[in-house]
Amino acid sequence: MARLTINGKTIEVNVDPSTPLLWGIREQVGLTGTKYGCGITECGACTVHIDGRAVRSCGTTVAAAVGKQITTIEGLAQNGVLHKVQKAWVDHEVPQCGYCQSGLIMAVAALLKDKPKPTDGDIDAAITNICRCGTFQQVREAIHAAAKA
Ligand code: FES
Ligand code: FES
Repeated sequence: MARLTINGKTIEVNVDPSTPLLWGIREQVGLTGTKYGCGITECGACTVHIDGRAVRSCGTTVAAAVGKQITTIEGLAQNGVLHKVQKAWVDHEVPQCGYCQSGLIMAVAALLKDKPKPTDGDIDAAITNICRCGTFQQVREAIHAAAKA
């Protein structure tokens, strides 16, 4: 049993504390916007924020997230208003199948918090998520648009 704070709500999850946070979020809490891609911290589909930093939730444990503020894609919009990254994603029609996209949006939102005007080099260094549909060019354009918003 562990107590997690997800999107501002405190929730008890009934799992072994060594369980990957991804499974706590998806299977215990039912927030399925956070995706399972590789399970080995390579693809970024499972990216959430922990205390404002982008973290691949397949590679961290429930125990490590106790007492921290976890934000998932479901908690990114505030009071019904899309985050500027979500808005740029809609405007630039970034998603194709969509599977990787919540992880990408979470990674980009954390990048823009750190670096409000990222260069292409900053984007290449920080956004290493894998998109099997190959949306990388649209992602880059949408990041620059969100940075200007
Ligand atoms: S599922 Fe976590 S990085 Fe791929
Ligand atoms: S949009 Fe399909 S995997 Fe990225």
